[in-house]
Amino acid sequence: MADVEGLKREAGVTACSFVRSGMKLGLGTGSTVKYTIIEIGRMISEDGIEVVGVPTSESTRELAESLGIPLMSISEAGSLDLTIDGADEFDPKFSLIKGGGGALTREKEVALISDSMIVVADDRKKVPVLGEFDLPIEVDPELWSAVSDAIRSSSGVGSSLRGGTESPYVTDNGGFILDCKFGPTIVDPANLEAHILSIDGVVQVGLFVGLCDAVVMSTGSGVQTIINPAGRLP
Ligand code: A5P
Repeated sequence: MADVEGLKREAGVTACSFVRSGMKLGLGTGSTVKYTIIEIGRMISEDGIEVVGVPTSESTRELAESLGIPLMSISEAGSLDLTIDGADEFDPKFSLIKGGGGALTREKEVALISDSMIVVADDRKKVPVLGEFDLPIEVDPELWSAVSDAIRSSSGVGSSLRGGTESPYVTDNGGFILDCKFGPTIVDPANLEAHILSIDGVVQVGLFVGLCDAVVMSTGSGVQTIINPAGRLP
C-alpha cells in the first residue's frame, strides 16, 4: 500500500517540472494528481510562482482552495496552457480511459481547451489495449437504463450502474455513471467514442483520444516521462 502511494506521489510531483509561472492550469481529479496539486501549492507558497487553476471536480476544488491555489471557472479561463490529470489506463497511442473517480465530463472539458495535457500514473495503468478497466460513461439519470440497453445491443457489452440502483453514484454534474465491461478490446477508441456519444442520454464517455501529450509514469525503478511523438509538446 505504501509503495503504491509512493509511486503516485513520485509521478504527481515529477509532472510539476512542466509547470511555469504565469500558466493557467487544468487541475485533474484523483489520487495521483492529488500530489501534483499539493506540489503546485508548495511552489506557490515557497517558490513564489503565480498560476491559476481550473478544477475538474468539487474534491479538487476543495483541495486546491485549502492550499491557496487561485482558481477560476472553465468559462472564465477560456483556454488553458496545461492540464495535468490522472488516468485509469493509457495505451501505446496515448489514448486514455478516465472517469474511475467520476469526474470525466469536466476532465474532458478542461482537456479540450488545454494547449497540452500531461497524465500522471504508475505503470499499472499502461496497457496494450484499452478496456480491462470498465469504461465509465456519464449519463442522464432518466435514461441510464436505455443507454445500458443501447450499448448492449450495439456492442454486446454489459454495464453496471455505479453505486447500484438503490443508491446510484451522482457526479458533480448530477449525472449517473455506467461502467461498461468492454474488456481489453478497444482497439479503435476514437470510433467507439463517437458511437457512444451518439446514443441518446449519454453526457460524456471516459475515452480521451488525441488529447494526451505525455505520460509521467512512475515505476519501481524510477519515473519515466514518455512523450507522445504525435503530441503538442516541443
Ligand atoms: C477521475 O474521474 C479519473 O479520471 C481519474 O483521473 C482516474 O480515475 C485516475 O485516478 P487515480 O490517479 O486515483 O488512479
